[in-house]
Amino acid sequence: MAVSILQLKSINDSRGGLVYLEHPGQCPFEIKRVYYLFGMDPQVARGFHAHKELRQLIMAVAGSFELILDDGVTRHTTVLDSPTKACLIEPGYWREMHNCSRDCVILVLASERYSEDDYIRDYEKFLIFARNNGQ
Ligand code: TYD
Repeated sequence: MAVSILQLKSINDSRGGLVYLEHPGQCPFEIKRVYYLFGMDPQVARGFHAHKELRQLIMAVAGSFELILDDGVTRHTTVLDSPTKACLIEPGYWREMHNCSRDCVILVLASERYSEDDYIRDYEKFLIFARNNGQ
């Protein structure tokens, strides 16, 4: 499974760091939606779904978490623990977010507006989708 980790360019000076995300540029798709997750309990995992069409760029702008990506055959764990490290999630990957630190803020850029129809929330249905779409 090819997991795409992007090292984001950061402009650093004595005042701190600055990362900007735009398309074209550091974000490989046009951004239609931005959302963020915060106040997570480290014991409570999130995600547990895949998307049919949606592309996402996900990162921990504060704190850290473990991102599990599953293509229906292989599961891969990535630790996102820096505001300059992002993971590009293409359609058809089951994802889970585990072990969020108390201070974790997960930022997600998305290629489409919210649509529940684009979600696959059942793992057995995801496996069928992955088989038919040949990840
Ligand atoms: P969900 O995607 O299930 O969260 P996670 O996978 O991170 O655990 O979303 C939680 C709820 O928020 C769900 O009821 C759908 C809603 N939601 C929106 O209304 N708009 C959005 O852009 C997102 C991402 C979620």
